[in-house]
Parts: sequence; C-alpha cells; structure tokens
Amino acid sequence: MVASDVKSLKLASHGKLRIEWSKRDMPVLSLIEERFKKSKPLKGQTISCCLHITAETANLLLALKAGGAKVIACASNPLSTQDDVAASLVKDYGLSVFAIKGENAKVYYSHIKSALDVRPTITMDDGADLVCEILSKRKELVQGLIGSTEETTTGVIRLKAMADQGVLAFPVVAVNDALTKHMFDNRYGTGQSTMDGIIRATNTLIAGRIFVVCGYGWCGHGVALRAKGLGADVVVTEVDPLRALEAIMDGFRVMPIADAAKIGDIFVTVTGDTDVIRKEHFLKMKDGALVCNSGHFNVELELKGLSAVTKTKRVVRDFVDEYKLKNGNRIYIIADGRLVNLSAAEGHPACVMDMSFANQALAAEYLAKNHTTLGNKVYPVPENIDKQIAVLKLKSLGVKIDRLTEIQKKYLASWEFGT
Ligand code: ADE
Repeated sequence: MVASDVKSLKLASHGKLRIEWSKRDMPVLSLIEERFKKSKPLKGQTISCCLHITAETANLLLALKAGGAKVIACASNPLSTQDDVAASLVKDYGLSVFAIKGENAKVYYSHIKSALDVRPTITMDDGADLVCEILSKRKELVQGLIGSTEETTTGVIRLKAMADQGVLAFPVVAVNDALTKHMFDNRYGTGQSTMDGIIRATNTLIAGRIFVVCGYGWCGHGVALRAKGLGADVVVTEVDPLRALEAIMDGFRVMPIADAAKIGDIFVTVTGDTDVIRKEHFLKMKDGALVCNSGHFNVELELKGLSAVTKTKRVVRDFVDEYKLKNGNRIYIIADGRLVNLSAAEGHPACVMDMSFANQALAAEYLAKNHTTLGNKVYPVPENIDKQIAVLKLKSLGVKIDRLTEIQKKYLASWEFGT
C-alpha cells in the first residue's frame, strides 16, 4: 500500500462510486485522459497536488496519472476533504493521499509536508499553500521544480504578489484566469454550491429572505443570481465602484455592510479579503441571522470579534454553531467560516469542474513541454488551450454554433467600411 493518511480505507467502495458518478459529467477531462493514456506527456513528472479532495479532483488526479505522472495529493482546506474519495484514491487507485476532513492546522501542514517530501517537479495548488511553503521553508525544492499551476483567485493574487516582490522562483500558470475556468466555475459553480451548502446545513427557505452578498466578483455574481432565482431579496456590499454600479444595474440593492447588517437574514462573504463582517456588524444583526463564507480562506468573518461579544456558544446542527450574544441575539455561523460550499456540501458540480480541471491537466502538459522557455512569472493559460476546452465542452453538450463566412472575416479585418 502507498504512503497515505486518510480517515478510513473502509470508506473506499462508497468513494469509488462517487468518483465514477462525477466522471459521467466530465467528458472533456475524460477525452484528455484518453489522449494522455496513449501519449504519456507527463512521463517522468512528479506532481504534488494541494487541492480540495473531492470526487471531481479524483478524476483530475487519475488523468494526470494516465499521462505518466507520479501523483501525490493533500487537502487545500481542512474541511473540504471527502473522506470516502480519499480512501478510494488510496485503496482502489494506488495514489498517495494525505487528507482528512476536520484535520487541525498541525495535521493540515504535516500533510502539506508529506506532499512535498516526494520532491515534486510540478506543484498544483488551490490557494498557493504549496508554493508558499516551498518559498518560505523548503527552498531546496526549487531546483527540481519546472513550475506550478494555480486553481483559484486568492492563490493567483498571492502568486502575483510574490512575482511583484521578485520572490517567485519558477513559472506558474494561473488556471483561474482562463475564461473556461472563472466564467463558469467561479460564477455558476460557486453560485449553485454555495446555496447547496447553506440549504444542506440549515434547511432554511431562501424565498422572501433578505440575502446579503458581500463582494460582487465572479463568485458574488453567481451567488446573487442564484439567491435571486430562489426568491430572495438580494443586497450586495462592495468596495469597488464599478462592481457596485454593475450590481445596481443587475437589479440588486447596494449598501455598506454596516447598513446591510441591520436588515439581512442570510449573509455570504465572497470577497477574498479579510475581516469583511466584523464584531460591530454582528452586534447590529437581527436575532437568528445566518452567516457564512464562500471565499477561499476563513478570514472573511471576524469570529474572534464575534466570540468577544458572545455569552454562550453551542453546536445546534452539523456545521452550524449558535453564538448567543451578550445582547440576547443569536447568530448562526455555518462551517466555522470556512468555504460553506465544500464544507457543508460537495463543492461545485462535476459539469463545471470538467472545464477547470481540463485547464489544470493541459496546463501541466504545457509546463512539461515549455518550461525551459518560461521565466519566474505568472502566466495565463494559452488562449488556444482555453478555446479548445470551450469547443470540446460545446461538442460534449451537443451544441453546434455558426462559423464566420469569408465576407464576415474580411469585414472584421477591415477598417475602410463605414456607414
Ligand atoms: N472547488 C470548488 N468545487 C470543487 C470541487 N467539486 N472539486 C474540487 N475543487 C472544487
């Protein structure tokens, strides 16, 4: 048996069924896997992946393995691991996995260490924890690395800061920035899975509720849209004037969190920033407010501040903590302020992860082929890869589109024709 640390291998048979179920909805990744099986573009690579260990991720890991890579995986969040999937990856597919749902910070970092001890040639991050660990504590690994890929907005922001400060020591491909990633995963994936997490955790009715979305980036767009679709009265909070204007014209009310705090029934943070809902806001909330986060890190809700004004705290349902405040009101925090969609539900559906992880697989292949020509920078996914994924996804959906005629092509390349 390969080296691993998972909850229980007895969960493997259930996990295998879930991996197979999600594969049904990942046709683009499956096509890539078939090609990888034949041409082995990742032969000789050791890929350490710090990703949410889900059924969808399992299919990515298997595609990388089919491409000839040695694959090791650890969790990118202490609460997002699907223990049955982790068990199946070890038992049924012989992959080294280090991930247990609910692991504490010490175990989380020991798992990251295990994933790096194999001396990867490529790292694949969701949040940049592997890269941070290498550059801050494991510099000896830089020499063997040809590059890294990054799945999420928060990770790309951290990596760009490293590049700006001149500390990035290898090329990184920003998978998040591919159109076939963030336009679908961040918007429709986060939109649906966030509502799924809130509903599974609380069984609350969304219709008729004042639903506050903090942050109107791609994820905020998705959450606001889906909350509206379920009948909520959606309020958006923003710091960016353009995004605030966009939210208004999309039909939402916009106001500062200090005002939204007084009227909201349900709050979701999706800003990627810290201390978005703070003690002073919790103190203004109505009795019974539900509060959660769907941004990458658990820093958006200032829970220390909430604890400081709390008289008693108890667990009232799976993933729901009741904070009874000194002012008598009760605030319900879902999933301890960690990603609600992956903690209390199963993350984004396979259909969107298909495109995100097709980008990851092709970005790894791109690094393997092109690393000698790349510098220590954050690179976009090449446009032809992004387009190819869109073409394959449409094909898998059975959707045909028009082609430009020769006259149209000529017109678009010209400047002489006016009115
Ligand atoms: N991020 C959001 N949803 C995910 C999923 N289903 N698998 C892996 N990473 C995710």
